Amino acid sequence: MSRNPEKFYVTTPIYYVNDIPHIGHAYTTIAADILARYNRFSGRKVFFLTGTDEHGQKVQKAAEQRSLSPKEHADKMVVNFKEMWQRLNISNNAFIRTTDEGHKARVRELLSSLWGKGLIEKRSYTGWYCVPDERFWTEKDLVNGKCPDCGRDVEQIEEQNYFFLMSRYHDALIKHIEKNPSYVQPDTRRNEVLGFLKYQPLGDLCISRPKKRLPWGIPLPFDEEFVTYVWFDALVNYYSGPQYLASADTAWWPADVHIIGKDILTTHAVYWSTMLMALGLPLPGTIFAHGWWTIEGRKMSKSLGNVVDPADVVRAFGERGVDTFRYFLFREIPFGHDGDFSKKALEIRNNKELANDLGNLISRTFTMTSKYFSGLVPQAEIEPEMKTLAHSIPEKVELHLKSLQFQKALEEIWNLVSYTNNYIQSNEPWTLAKSPEMHGRLAQVIYSSLEAIKLLAAYLYPFMPSWSEALWKALGYTDALTKNSLGNLIKTPLPAGRKLEEFKTLLFPIASYAETAHDVDVVAGYAFVGKKEERKKKVEEKPAAKPKIEQPINEGLIGIEDFAKVKLRTAKVLLAEPVKGSNKLIRLEVDLGDEKRQIVAGIGKSYSPEELIGKTVVIVANLKPAKLMGVESNGMLLAATDAEGTLSALTTEKEVKPGASIK
Ligand code: MSP
Repeated sequence: MSRNPEKFYVTTPIYYVNDIPHIGHAYTTIAADILARYNRFSGRKVFFLTGTDEHGQKVQKAAEQRSLSPKEHADKMVVNFKEMWQRLNISNNAFIRTTDEGHKARVRELLSSLWGKGLIEKRSYTGWYCVPDERFWTEKDLVNGKCPDCGRDVEQIEEQNYFFLMSRYHDALIKHIEKNPSYVQPDTRRNEVLGFLKYQPLGDLCISRPKKRLPWGIPLPFDEEFVTYVWFDALVNYYSGPQYLASADTAWWPADVHIIGKDILTTHAVYWSTMLMALGLPLPGTIFAHGWWTIEGRKMSKSLGNVVDPADVVRAFGERGVDTFRYFLFREIPFGHDGDFSKKALEIRNNKELANDLGNLISRTFTMTSKYFSGLVPQAEIEPEMKTLAHSIPEKVELHLKSLQFQKALEEIWNLVSYTNNYIQSNEPWTLAKSPEMHGRLAQVIYSSLEAIKLLAAYLYPFMPSWSEALWKALGYTDALTKNSLGNLIKTPLPAGRKLEEFKTLLFPIASYAETAHDVDVVAGYAFVGKKEERKKKVEEKPAAKPKIEQPINEGLIGIEDFAKVKLRTAKVLLAEPVKGSNKLIRLEVDLGDEKRQIVAGIGKSYSPEELIGKTVVIVANLKPAKLMGVESNGMLLAATDAEGTLSALTTEKEVKPGASIK
């Protein structure tokens, strides 16, 4: 992945400290985190840098409004980013702030170097000034000759400023991009930059602002009346950061990957590249510009009030919320494309892929290990075909992650999830368990499934680190997953005889779209802000219908009002296990869409618990709680029994959402 295969240096943009972190910031940062974790796990030395951009007019203004100094304001705001990255499991090695002394000193050093080389010139510069906004605009910024920000009159002023002689690097930059296809990625962005460079002259870059107009910045080392233009200051972070925030034993520059959004491609591909050329410093390996998220089909903006706070999404999906969010962002769209974030899309991926595919695999395998092998990993070898598939995945994932194709990497990994689910289904361990002579085969099926699950913990780790670590523990390992290297972990099979631990926290709760609201409601009782209450109110406000019903004329027949008293609903089986001391009772945890419940069903002679997991059954939902063999049951599973005693649980003919009512 790296040009020096031993080390890997990845960055995110440094975010405007004035902003409140949203899904866009989270997207870039999680992408960098996935690469950082993957490379560490693959045995490389990693430096992952993120941080905040703290100088400039906007920060100065916001601070004035709060009667704080710009630095005091930034000190308060930066906490939002630091806390968000912790919450999202971001493993950055350092956090840079452009107000750090270490950074400021490097910016001044680089400016002095360029000044010494004669690559910075003072020139007079004519532009348009908006007095109330205290902002300087170029001719092309104006809207109908007025300030593009406030619409007021602007006045033409002439100002002295310093210019970096960027135009000198025009040809060299084109050549570099043409010679190094991976320098600007994806290809569409590379073509965009080349198109821009080839068909117009490249100007010089104004890199200063007069201090009297904007004092909040790094003073130029050769003229203290001016401060450094924020973009020049900010871009230097990639170079300055490792110099004072990393241990000195590794020369981190150049970065392997700068991950950015498509909106800041020019500043990186053109300004930063030419700055480095002028300084005689090596260029980074790749500048990758990802696409933008729209929200429910609309542009995300404060004025529309649709800015997605990652913390809300995470909260809504409960204990596994961070993993769900991280998984969704990178499974949903190819990195580099624009995408739409909708709660519906999030719900579909969560329910189908995480709760169902992955959850059922874990739930069944752990349950069967417990039932057939007393919770101990059986002695057997992994099925050769499964081994071939499972061991071929890392090479493909490496290739995809090298080109930042996170979605393709996840698809590869998911092949193992689907394969193992089908493997269990077709080998029917519950049937094998009935014949003692099939014990060896049963051990192999369970062992192979457990080994696949172990490999999934490793493969999914960069994407869902906290889930993977929890799974690792549940598999009975006592060290942290990351104490092992990916290579070793693939080579070393799961040791037989180890006791498995509790697995329930590894399951993803099912989210269901409520018909009366636009929001996802989650079984575990989490809800996107406010909506659940609104829905409840709506239901309560509706006057209860009073059905006009004839009196029953025959004994034994009931009227519809009696039948209406029985609430039948569909329920999805999330978990199933035998009730201790009974050969008939099975304890089920079921999902009713708006809640999760425990029920006890007397079907143990006809069904094994693992056969039931994932089935949509029908239950009486408003039965008074009862205790069966000491276990509380909150409802009754319906099953048909014929004269021969064959028992069959009722399910629905078509796939319906959990909690659907039956009338
Ligand atoms: N401070 C500069 C970067 C300087 S880097 C030397 C900056 N900061 S920012 O806070 O505006 O950056 C935001 C990052 O979030 C950018 O990469 C941008 O593309 C990304 N996003 C902002 N809104 C977004 C979406 N709606 N969707 C995806 N990413 C988006 O620019």
